[in-house]
Amino acid sequence: MNNTPLLKIEHLDKHFGRQHVLNDLTFSIDKGEFVSILGPSGCGKTTLLRVIMGLEPPDSGTIVHNGQDITHLKPNKRGFSIVFQDYALFPHLNLYDNIAYGLKLQKLSHDEIKKRVMPTLELLRLKEAVKKLPSQLSGGMQQRAAIARSLVLGNDLLLLDEPFSALDAVVKVDLGDELKELQRRFGITMIMVTHDQEEAFSLSDRVIVMQKGHIAAFDTPEELYLNRSGDEFIKSFITDQINKRARYVRKLIGGAGHEED
Ligand SMILES: Nc1ncnc2c1ncn2[C@@H]1O[C@H](COP(=O)(O)OP(=O)(O)O)[C@@H](O)[C@H]1O
Ligand SMILES: [Mg+2]
Repeated sequence: MNNTPLLKIEHLDKHFGRQHVLNDLTFSIDKGEFVSILGPSGCGKTTLLRVIMGLEPPDSGTIVHNGQDITHLKPNKRGFSIVFQDYALFPHLNLYDNIAYGLKLQKLSHDEIKKRVMPTLELLRLKEAVKKLPSQLSGGMQQRAAIARSLVLGNDLLLLDEPFSALDAVVKVDLGDELKELQRRFGITMIMVTHDQEEAFSLSDRVIVMQKGHIAAFDTPEELYLNRSGDEFIKSFITDQINKRARYVRKLIGGAGHEED
């Protein structure tokens, strides 16, 4: 059995000027896990994703991917994909070219690219939309396209930065369910940044709660909920929303019981 974590982060540190944005972060993520990084705005979530992706160098610490130290590798050598809130896809390229983009950079032949891209588009129910521009695709299609891009590149880690924050509540739940389904089906490890507790709790295997650049907790949604008296920050962060969102929490701890007003 292979117990090597997919991603192992040790003593990661990052300053912007005098601001300590990532403070001695150490954690591991297993293959196939869906992990959310949950915390208030400004706590360092996006910076952590950018450092993992290689878009921002850390001051110190190490990042290990499948046992290999990648701390100083260029972003395109890491085998990770990233989806930002507003630009998962290149707006001026049609769907096919968006998915093929990374393969073109690898200088694969036209035929090889087509051989990889078309079956993936078919698998993700996107074949009808190959010629469409991102603006002509639904939110669900754009999300599936981002996943298709990871798959054709053979990437095993998808990073998502607040992927649902611009959407209304109903669409958000649908896309969240679909993302989770695709993640299970294709075994892609995902790290999703969010400031939305309900989103993090309903989708994730484990949740990293971040507070001012450090990890306040890293556990399953169930444990975080049940241990909410443990830490003052966790307590206020998590209980704040519980009354408002009791419905989600009940679903999460077993789906038992009926709804009360
Ligand atoms: N490139 C940068 N230069 C200077 N400060 C930055 C930069 N990027 C982020 N910051 C600061 O670092 C802190 C964490 O930012 P960020 O990681 O974007 O937080 P989050 O994604 O949790 O909202 C914020 O105070 C932000 O202003
Ligand atoms: Mg952010």
